[in-house]
Amino acid sequence: MAKSILFVCLGNICRSPIAEGIAKKIIKNYKLGIIVDSAGTGDWHIGNAPCEGSQKIALMNGVDISTFKARQVVKDDFNKFDLIVALDNSNYINLKKLGAKNLVKLGDYGFNGADVPDPYFLESFDGFDEVYDMIEKAIKNLISKASCHHHTTID
Ligand code: 4NP
Repeated sequence: MAKSILFVCLGNICRSPIAEGIAKKIIKNYKLGIIVDSAGTGDWHIGNAPCEGSQKIALMNGVDISTFKARQVVKDDFNKFDLIVALDNSNYINLKKLGAKNLVKLGDYGFNGADVPDPYFLESFDGFDEVYDMIEKAIKNLISKASCHHHTTID
């Protein structure tokens, strides 16, 4: 059973903060005691709050991610976290190169390994909804599996 999970995307401002927010909410609700964080492989947005669309879609779903601050993944994360979850295949490849072990893709959990689409360059808010739903479904699958010793059913 994973006791700690790190979600990693490129900028740590759009996708992985949504993942962190959803996972933290579920873990709190079900008292699972799993530590969750998120990071980016890139350094462009260090210290920044999540992008507007991500904050908005999360809040619409009762998840406040407005206080999150982007950070870059560091090698020590691979020792600290039991499970590293890449949001897309390029994140996966970059993390593999950096030496990540226990590395999976979020899309492995119910989406045949598909990438979580990057909403950063979307012109409109459309798309964030889809991204949010995919992340939420995959995380529910992941956490049900990660906490299987508790026979947790997450609905
Ligand atoms: P994220 O989205 O990886 O989901 O946080 C992106 C954020 C920033 C950039 C690309 C993707 N960027 O090129 O700065």
